[in-house]
Amino acid sequence: MDIKNTTSSQLMNSKLNTLFLIQLQHLYWAEQKQLETLSYLVEIAENSDLKNALRHHLAETQIHVYRLQYIFDVLNEKPVALKWQVMESIIDEGTDMIVFTDKYSDGLDLVVLAACEKINCYEVASYLNLIQFAVACGQNGVLEALEQTLNEERMSNKLLGRITSKESATNHAELLV
Ligand SMILES: [Fe+2]
Repeated sequence: MDIKNTTSSQLMNSKLNTLFLIQLQHLYWAEQKQLETLSYLVEIAENSDLKNALRHHLAETQIHVYRLQYIFDVLNEKPVALKWQVMESIIDEGTDMIVFTDKYSDGLDLVVLAACEKINCYEVASYLNLIQFAVACGQNGVLEALEQTLNEERMSNKLLGRITSKESATNHAELLV
């Protein structure tokens, strides 16, 4: 038996496990922060398709929070929300753009969409990382729950992308008149 290799792979595995748990705690913080952010965006969005898509994603986000609690439970870990600086900066960037745009301007929906898309893209990448780490750490009991959330985040991204295309075409047409 190669003791050196066994020890280094055990160390790697324990580091991956720690990273997995930290990312889980970050996402738990992010999903709860998203509940606040999405409620605000639902309120200010004008376009009815956008409002509905945001309302739908808000309901899904509540499920994502519960799902993360379930995952902590499966892992025998206490649910801890660890503040995620990167996600906070992305959310702040979105809200800064909204303040800059002015609440009543025509382009506000496009700015709301831009803010959501950035947040969602980072969430998709993060859930993807989490799944890869879970596989590497042998945490197979949480894979299905993580994949469900990843799929919902991806669907939400697609829907927002479709609304953005329509919205930017409309705004562009208005600019040309
Ligand atoms: Fe989410």
